[in-house]
Amino acid sequence: MKNPRTHLLYLLLSFVISIPLVVGESSVSKFNITIGSSISTSPNGTNYWLSPSGVYAFGFYPLCSGCDRYGVGIWLTKSYDSTLVWTPNLDNDEPISNASIVVDQYGVFVLRRSGSTLKPLFGNLFEPALYAMMKDSGNFVVYNSVSDIIWQSFDHPTDTIVSGQTLKSGHSLISKSLKYRLMMRKSGELIICSKFYNRWWKWICNWVSHTRKRSSPVALNLDSNGRLYLADWDGLVIKNFTEGEEQQHAWSIVGKQIYRVTLEDDGVLRMYSERIGCDCGRSVVLWESYCSTCKERDHVTSDFFLAFGISFGIIIVIAICCICIIELAGKCKRRQNELK
Ligand SMILES: *[C@@H]1O[C@H](CO)[C@@H](O)[C@H](O)[C@H]1NC(C)=O
Ligand SMILES: *[C@@H]1O[C@H](CO)[C@@H](O)[C@H](O)[C@H]1NC(C)=O
Ligand SMILES: *[C@@H]1O[C@H](CO)[C@@H](O)[C@H](O)[C@H]1NC(C)=O
Ligand SMILES: *[C@@H]1O[C@H](CO)[C@@H](O)[C@H](O)[C@H]1NC(C)=O
Repeated sequence: MKNPRTHLLYLLLSFVISIPLVVGESSVSKFNITIGSSISTSPNGTNYWLSPSGVYAFGFYPLCSGCDRYGVGIWLTKSYDSTLVWTPNLDNDEPISNASIVVDQYGVFVLRRSGSTLKPLFGNLFEPALYAMMKDSGNFVVYNSVSDIIWQSFDHPTDTIVSGQTLKSGHSLISKSLKYRLMMRKSGELIICSKFYNRWWKWICNWVSHTRKRSSPVALNLDSNGRLYLADWDGLVIKNFTEGEEQQHAWSIVGKQIYRVTLEDDGVLRMYSERIGCDCGRSVVLWESYCSTCKERDHVTSDFFLAFGISFGIIIVIAICCICIIELAGKCKRRQNELK
């Protein structure tokens, strides 16, 4: 070695070269979804991409056994019912058959369906993807060329959040039937409303957290022990909905436990404990937002109609002003003509 610098370079180089040899096939690179990767509904092909522990999968799941009809999503592979925790927002809800998802050469995840045009699966991203990964947390993450996250399923929840996920301020969950919406409102309130309005143009809401007026944004959090709570930007806990379970709970000895919170078709938010990797049976409800027999209803003025009303009012005022100005200008001209 001539000098310490070359020595260091040599060390670094040998380290880089040795990584693939040491880590080999079992490394995370096996789970690295790169340009050109694809999955398809073909029974002989790869139907999904797994997370390293195999707990979560992203891809095509069969809608019935043996039939050629699939859905796209993220699911818990080792739970009793292979619980679906995320689905993309496709304009075509029909079951999918003879399709594939490809990371094309432009770094776009495209869904190819036979007899249909190619569709970017995650909408139009501002940057091309270089690689992606199905994480053990349940988050499907897409990275650009400098390994910045450009898209992640945790930022686009559908009806469910899982342990470790948060529902950010201004975001919502929508029930499968599309009838109910859980909103983490900018006001700091968590609220479940039906998408319908009553005759006073108010949302019909069946549950509200009563945590209004916070100076910083509030998010709904679900931690790995099953504690569901609202916390603000600084991490200050505003409200605990559940206390969470002790780590040494019996289930964690038998298998792993993953919690999820789902907005269901009856307009109730429920927290489930999913038993992973053991024959421990179905998921168990640990908490729900309210009992379906409760009569209490909260009525909330729709921000949409308020905003609409205000904008409409402003447009009318501007229109009246314009008419007045034109009218006045016309009068002035006529008077000038009369004076001449
Ligand atoms: C995944 O693959 C990309 C492109 O080949 C590479 O840049 C990235 O470092 C890889 N990431 C991991 C975690 O293996
Ligand atoms: C799948 O594999 C089987 C047996 O190898 C073969 O008979 C069948 O044609 C294949 N199907 C497709 C769709 O490639
Ligand atoms: C599947 O799609 C491919 C390409 O779009 C087409 O060539 C093939 O005939 C289709 N197969 C079936 C069984 O529909
Ligand atoms: C919420 O629960 C945590 C953990 O049990 C506790 O430390 C915290 O004080 C609770 N906060 C509120 C506001 O109840």
